[in-house]
Amino acid sequence: MRVDALAATNFRNLAPFRIEPHPRFNIFEGPNGQGKTNLLESIYLLSAFRSFRDVTNRQLIQWGEQDTRVFAEVTRHAVKRDIEIAISSKGKKVKLDGTAITRLPAAFVHFNVVLFTPDHLQLTKAGPEPRRRLLDRAIYATWPSYIDELRAYQAALRNRNALLRNHSTDRTVAAPFERLLVDTAVAVIRRRLDYIDALTPHVERAFHDITNGEHTVKLSYRGSPTDTDDAVRTALETRLEATRATDERRGFTSFGPQTHDLTVTLDGRSARTYASQGQHRALVLALKIAELHHLRAVHNLEPVLLLDDVSSELDEARNAQLMHHLTTAAGQVFLTTTDRRWIQLGNDRHVYAVSEGSVSL
Ligand SMILES: Nc1ncnc2c1ncn2[C@@H]1O[C@H](COP(=O)(O)OP(=O)(O)OP(=O)(O)O)[C@@H](O)[C@H]1O
Ligand SMILES: [Mg+2]
Repeated sequence: MRVDALAATNFRNLAPFRIEPHPRFNIFEGPNGQGKTNLLESIYLLSAFRSFRDVTNRQLIQWGEQDTRVFAEVTRHAVKRDIEIAISSKGKKVKLDGTAITRLPAAFVHFNVVLFTPDHLQLTKAGPEPRRRLLDRAIYATWPSYIDELRAYQAALRNRNALLRNHSTDRTVAAPFERLLVDTAVAVIRRRLDYIDALTPHVERAFHDITNGEHTVKLSYRGSPTDTDDAVRTALETRLEATRATDERRGFTSFGPQTHDLTVTLDGRSARTYASQGQHRALVLALKIAELHHLRAVHNLEPVLLLDDVSSELDEARNAQLMHHLTTAAGQVFLTTTDRRWIQLGNDRHVYAVSEGSVSL
């Protein structure tokens, strides 16, 4: 997977630009607040059609302007494609090879990226929400139809909640809604379990390398049985039955995939509770490297890697591991830094200066 050209107009604070990135390493260097993260965001946008930051479409448009456009020429398995996204007050429009796309999930397969930002370093420490979001995004980057499954569940959940809010306790009305809720929940949970299973050997290997085999990591899914779909279904039905009265009183569904968690244990103990700072960093690094390897295995390609200012957040040893990993295992990489001395990647690279929104080689 490779970006051959990237261009944008009116995107965030960036002056209109067009670059032809190096096939290996692209370093964007500049002081704080110049537009480095914005540049990575523009690339990510062409893959996920939304930002990795929690923002509205509107906030991506340069202040005072009406619309923004980001464009890339990418090569995937020797097939070249143009991807374009245009955002205005009317919403966003995506074009693939010049043709408008109406169903976005179908377009996810054309551009595979893995993102690593300092925010991810909170992952193993934080509450379940960001982990669930990361898990869901990683799954739909792998299996795009997961989006539809997740949306079907979310719709079922909204419908049941609406019913609960109307205090409709008539069982004949509620039963079909609950059945749909359970069916769609089983599909979501199944995907998550499959993903965790597939990711696990990659995480174990990466973590083993990072800690020289001194520690072991385990991923598990919390909130549901993990063996068969029948067991998942029975547990959901039982729990739904047990919480129905409470749910009716509160007016929302208190239990389901939206409350589940991906838990990480270190040497058999909860990482969230017991891991040290350095161990958290090692865990997140292992999770990210695993995501890369997994995507590589599934799609038989090297995803584009976006690293936002990660080096300054890692200690020297972890940073050296990351650089070693990048030079030996990653394909095309885009990374930002305030100081290129952090980045030891040899000469296969372009170094761009980012200054007040201008990007120059
Ligand atoms: N819609 C927008 N229009 C114009 N400017 C914007 C818009 N959104 C954000 N900015 C500005 O873009 C600037 C650069 O942001 P960015 O996050 O890319 O900086 P950075 O180079 O990554 O800095 P740091 O090293 O601190 O992470 C910020 O100063 C911000 O105010
Ligand atoms: Mg930044």
